[in-house]
Amino acid sequence: MKSISIKSPATIANLVCGFDILGLALAEPYDLMHLEIRDEPGLQIIHEDEHQLPTEPEKNVAGAALLALMEEMPVKKGFLLRVNKMIKPGSGLGSSAASAAGAVYAANQLLGNIYSNDDLIRFAMFGEKLASGVKHADNITPCLLGGVTLIRSILPLDVVRLDAPEIHISVVHPQIEVRTSDARQILKTEVSLKQAIRQWGNIAGLVAGLMKGDHQLISRSLEDVIIEPARSILIPGFDEVKKRSLEAGALGGGISGSGPSIFMLSEKRSTAERVTKEMEAVFHRMGIDNKTYVTQLNHQGISLNENEHAIL
Ligand code: HSE
Repeated sequence: MKSISIKSPATIANLVCGFDILGLALAEPYDLMHLEIRDEPGLQIIHEDEHQLPTEPEKNVAGAALLALMEEMPVKKGFLLRVNKMIKPGSGLGSSAASAAGAVYAANQLLGNIYSNDDLIRFAMFGEKLASGVKHADNITPCLLGGVTLIRSILPLDVVRLDAPEIHISVVHPQIEVRTSDARQILKTEVSLKQAIRQWGNIAGLVAGLMKGDHQLISRSLEDVIIEPARSILIPGFDEVKKRSLEAGALGGGISGSGPSIFMLSEKRSTAERVTKEMEAVFHRMGIDNKTYVTQLNHQGISLNENEHAIL
């Protein structure tokens, strides 16, 4: 195989209480990527979207991940990567992870699957480091593996894919800028034992709720006493969105990754649609443009794009 076209999905990191350790993959939106392997060494990147991202490999998130993979490649080859980003950079929907994970997944397919998922996560984290200054895998892992994932440890890498019941996901992306690096810098580096106990109770509750398919336990566990109080001030209307979503029947939700997107989980599609309308209405009243999605879990993660020529 000389080239491959893939869809690399958006993801929601943290899942409210699980900062840097929990994440899920969304059915929509997703990036489109096309990778071609060449005998001449080197890496060329072309963006076919309007986001004006850098295309020099060392400054490009997908490029940084691919360069890490290429350094360990047993036979020297080159790549041409074409990207059409549908996940807006800086949305809090794992845009950088989709680029980084998508690029190394595609390369691995073209190389005959010589790398393990753990290797791919390791390579893709170079992209995250470039994007946010920190290696974290809570977007990369669900993007690659699909479903809901838990990072028990980054060093050494220990990831667990969690079962989850059918769940509907509302997302609103207000068109304001929150940089991940800024959203990390405002966090306190210490927490009290009392907060920690409450937080790990919620994380354990959320994991148990997902695995048992217990929607009410999921709902009770979607609480964050550490990160959300600090970060929510960066998102105007956050408290109102949350209040109205819960009134509309959502199980719960919060900031998607480092924001500014906000997500809510619902048991039924009709509830998720109602919740999305409420979210949209809050930003509309504030005069803030926004984009919404009503979507579901993506159980597969990155997948082949059968329709490559129509889109790329
Ligand atoms: N866990 C990360 C954070 C995800 O919240 O900073 C952002 O990409």
